[in-house]
Amino acid sequence: MKTLGQHLMTLCKATKLPSAVLSVVLIGGSLMTATPASADLTVYTDRPTARLQPIADEFTKATGAKVVIVEQAYPKILAQLKTEGATSPADVLFVKDLVYLAELSNLGWFQPMVSTLAEQSVASQMRDPKLLWTAITIRGRTIVYDSTRVAASELKGYEDLATAKWAGRLCLRTSQSAYNEALVAGLIETHGAVKAAAIVDGWVRNLATDPISGDTGVLEAIASGVCDVGIVNTYYLGQMVAKQPAFPVKAFFADALSTGVFGNGTGAGVAATSKQKELATRFIELLLSDKNQLEMSAANFDYPAKMGLLPTTLVKDWGVFKYNESNWTVVGSRAGEARDLMKAVQYK
Ligand SMILES: [Fe+2]
Repeated sequence: MKTLGQHLMTLCKATKLPSAVLSVVLIGGSLMTATPASADLTVYTDRPTARLQPIADEFTKATGAKVVIVEQAYPKILAQLKTEGATSPADVLFVKDLVYLAELSNLGWFQPMVSTLAEQSVASQMRDPKLLWTAITIRGRTIVYDSTRVAASELKGYEDLATAKWAGRLCLRTSQSAYNEALVAGLIETHGAVKAAAIVDGWVRNLATDPISGDTGVLEAIASGVCDVGIVNTYYLGQMVAKQPAFPVKAFFADALSTGVFGNGTGAGVAATSKQKELATRFIELLLSDKNQLEMSAANFDYPAKMGLLPTTLVKDWGVFKYNESNWTVVGSRAGEARDLMKAVQYK
């Protein structure tokens, strides 16, 4: 028995319809829309559809092109791209982590864009050198501490958290998180593998408790006295403080005078399969408009990737900070080394 896709392919051949029509119709193996139009734009993303829909509507208003948002977790996006291969309907890939962006780049799922706006708006380390993708919203993965038990003056940076001063006082999220893969890949890129291993080994020795499954759990463990310090993405603290203004945990921006805070963020690029590179680039540029930058970053307590824009949420009160200058493409390509390093020092 033929699948729906095979039926539609036969139909396309029989009617001499372009296969692009089929790709618009078949999304995630299910019938999403029967409105074939070469101007339609398909976005594969792990970002919430509700947050992207107003931007999609704005794009449709400006260009006449309908936007189809296909939202699923990153592993499913990758699996779907692999299944679809060259016939994938994806025009834009928009995902949440530099490790994912690097993986999609390395697997050839992006094609370069031409965008003066992206080049002029986004710091060079936060976009691919060939503009295979650009950061859209950013955050630091930095140190957090209980302000009732620790003074900010006691903190320095990532390396310092590996010293005996913090023995039994540190909480970390598990090593399986892509956020920690990116962080450790950043340490390797910045300090070399030997020093990075010594730092992460020191962290593991200083743990107050087994690695915790999420960043929010790390913040809660610090607030409840299980540990004094931890490392989380800034937006998790922002979300927590928004809910509980008296939350005792504060952000400390690591290594301000040296290598800076390791950044990460969401990023978007034109899918290699897109036959509408200019339209897809225009969508990505719309994600970089001031209005959308401020709204998208605010929705997640993130920072705008566009330089010169300050966040509008409570995270602005924490001040500006220095990001590590390693290029995310290079950092992301070290994710495998980071996984091996974390395994070697028994970071669970
Ligand atoms: Fe997250």
